[in-house]
Amino acid sequence: MNLDFQLESDLASCIPKNFYTQLPQPLSTPKAIFTLYGRNALHGISLQIIKYWPQKREILVPSYSCGDEIESLIKAGFTSITYPVHSNLEIDPHDLERCITSKTSAILITHYFGFPQSNTSQIKKLCEANNLFLIEDCAQALGGKLNDQPLGTFGHASIFSLRKFLPIPHGGALLINSPEIPPPQFQPPSNQASSFDLFLYLGMLQNLFPPSTPISDIYSSVGASLPSQHGPRLSKEGGYKLSISNIAKFLVSRISFSDIAAVRRKRFLLLLELFNCYYPNLIIKSVLEKNVVPLNFPILVYNSSKVADIGYQKGLKHIQPFWSYLHKYVKWNKYKDARNLKSKILAISLNHDFSSSQLDTFLEILSHSK
Ligand SMILES: Cc1ncc(COP(=O)(O)O)c(C=O)c1O
Repeated sequence: MNLDFQLESDLASCIPKNFYTQLPQPLSTPKAIFTLYGRNALHGISLQIIKYWPQKREILVPSYSCGDEIESLIKAGFTSITYPVHSNLEIDPHDLERCITSKTSAILITHYFGFPQSNTSQIKKLCEANNLFLIEDCAQALGGKLNDQPLGTFGHASIFSLRKFLPIPHGGALLINSPEIPPPQFQPPSNQASSFDLFLYLGMLQNLFPPSTPISDIYSSVGASLPSQHGPRLSKEGGYKLSISNIAKFLVSRISFSDIAAVRRKRFLLLLELFNCYYPNLIIKSVLEKNVVPLNFPILVYNSSKVADIGYQKGLKHIQPFWSYLHKYVKWNKYKDARNLKSKILAISLNHDFSSSQLDTFLEILSHSK
């Protein structure tokens, strides 16, 4: 089967130049650079920092991590130095301070599940005092604010993963807030790369391919073999250099982020009420500040993979063991809190409403899995 549609080039003439004005601050500006994924943005900013300070190759990264973000820094030439993330998902600036050496050039911090790191301003001061670049990983925090200041404007640079919040097949962004760092260059994806991603995305939406299905299996399921230019989800060399596609820009120009944010907040508050009633001890984030746009509703269970498996057998699709894979970039024995979070966090999707029978099933499963 040939997946090489011409949609990408055909759409080029239909995209408004200011397609990003629908996005929240700080991305509704011509300064924002749009990339195929968030990891492309991280790779691009890393290359620029390494060019700026070729002798300083260390970057501090959070222990609680998915691995893809660390891989993109390492592929750009950084050495990652891990710092602890505590069981409340917060970062302690003193831990960061202990990790800084004469080779450190940057610190990466992550705003998990849409919730701002409460010590962001202190961390920024620490970076200023030590002449380090601060990169905010806002992959999970689109449209959020901390004390009325948009997330992504504290750091010298920030990255975003639009596709986690918006119904688009791919999409990331890079914002550079420091005049010292020149913008990296990205190139548009081929027709083949973007139509393959669209195909993959629609297949996932229709449950044709569960999220962890290997990409080669998906290709062979439609009688196609893996092409050479399929984009960075596979982290192939060259993939990191790709910008956002016309397909994603076209969709972004037609989406209302404020409507999406309002629905996510509403669903989060409903779940918060429910869990406060039945399982208050499983709640991780018990307050939703007015400026927070949650990615999902995370809870702590004894074994998230096991609970998710039971849920899947009973037809529940809205739950996911979050980042349970112990990737190779962190020494897990040394970071017990992060390891614990890896095995215990179950993320409830805010992309869909639960029916009342699905909620009953879920509560029943939780009652057996303490
Ligand atoms: C914290 C964090 N950073 C970076 C990324 C990479 O974003 P993307 O998948 O758009 O490359 C992810 C994605 O899972 C993430 O959760």
